[in-house]
Amino acid sequence: MTEAPPVYLDHAATTPVDPAVVEVMMRWLSGADAMGNPSSRGHCYGRGAAAAVEKARQQVAALVGAEPEGIVWTSGATEANNLALLGAVRFAMKRGRGRHLVSCRTEHKAVLEACAALEREGAEVTLLDPAPDGSLCPGRVLDAVRDDTVLVSLMHVNNETGVIHDIAAIADTLRSCPVLFHVDAAQSAGRLPLAVADWGVDMVSLSAHKLYGPKGVGALYVRPRPRLRIEPLAYGGGQERGMRPGTLATHQIAGMGLACALAAERIDTDSAHLLAMRRRLWDRLSEAGGVVLHGRWDGAPHILNVGFQGVHGEALETELEDAVAISTGSACASADATPSHVLRAMGVPDTLVISSFRFSLGRTTRAEDVDRVARSVLQGLRRLRSFSAVRGEEGGEIGTEARQGNAAVSAGSKVLQ
Ligand SMILES: Cc1ncc(COP(=O)(O)O)c(C=O)c1O
Repeated sequence: MTEAPPVYLDHAATTPVDPAVVEVMMRWLSGADAMGNPSSRGHCYGRGAAAAVEKARQQVAALVGAEPEGIVWTSGATEANNLALLGAVRFAMKRGRGRHLVSCRTEHKAVLEACAALEREGAEVTLLDPAPDGSLCPGRVLDAVRDDTVLVSLMHVNNETGVIHDIAAIADTLRSCPVLFHVDAAQSAGRLPLAVADWGVDMVSLSAHKLYGPKGVGALYVRPRPRLRIEPLAYGGGQERGMRPGTLATHQIAGMGLACALAAERIDTDSAHLLAMRRRLWDRLSEAGGVVLHGRWDGAPHILNVGFQGVHGEALETELEDAVAISTGSACASADATPSHVLRAMGVPDTLVISSFRFSLGRTTRAEDVDRVARSVLQGLRRLRSFSAVRGEEGGEIGTEARQGNAAVSAGSKVLQ
């Protein structure tokens, strides 16, 4: 009998492409009238491609509650984050309008590294510490704003823990200050309702491959009215209001557009399904005892980040290899194998950080997948803990600590049964 392939529970790293999205992409790659450059408005081929791009712009904007003319196509959320931060701060610094930005230690590296690059150019960065449960109080964001602050950049949903920042409340708090507010919504778009224009957010980063679209395409929403000006990262033919020049990839963009339209249709059903699967996974995993939830129970429905006490993460990873595809350590399918900066910023001790795993669920995750994964984890934990108990290692402490923390599921890094 052949082994079933590992269950894919790494949807926060990337999602499978929806078959309908593949179909629309193929149509714009190889269809009889698909060869036009969307900038070639002088013939029907170019105009056809331009119409596909504009339809996608509407679809993306509709998903996040933004004006379509604010959508600027990028290669993904990494580029969108860089364009937002470098673009806004460089624009202000050149004109002597400030050089300070505020962000948080739990942000994605695409924001943190852009902050570091700006520091090398003379900007000053305040990185806020989150609460132990990963949350951030809007008042603390406001307190960090100075007279020379140009930009506040915060993510909506954390990619490792699923913790949600209350973007509407933070935007409201910042309304009285002349600062720009950028939100990395790569993990939230399609999973939580967004109301970008109503919230008064200035820039928002999006990525297609997190919502069943293709890799290599994303968008930065840049508030069109009143017009927000940023420095481009590159110079060329003036596409995308001069903010992101270069020939537009019609097939990628059409794919992202359809993925957003499908996500908008399915957001309620997807969310209910993900919540049920996450609850099921938690219930089964916590039977092991010594299982710690990182983050908050009211986080995004697709992410469950847990630490397993009394085992070495790498050993458990090896045990699970054939059963499940998940992320450990620096979770975003990264090439960087250092312990998670997110969990560390939340005060999780390194010993637990390295035995923590992010399970991220998707539209097609079934109850039997969850059960199979949980069975493998419990089996692996039993084996590894029995070894460490024999050797007198930390496994022995599990029971005590687990009992102490047998409380609410909502707080960060609590030990839960
Ligand atoms: C919150 C967040 N921001 C940014 C990114 C980068 O997105 P992309 O892969 O589209 O560059 C990711 C995923 O890797 C993410 O989860």
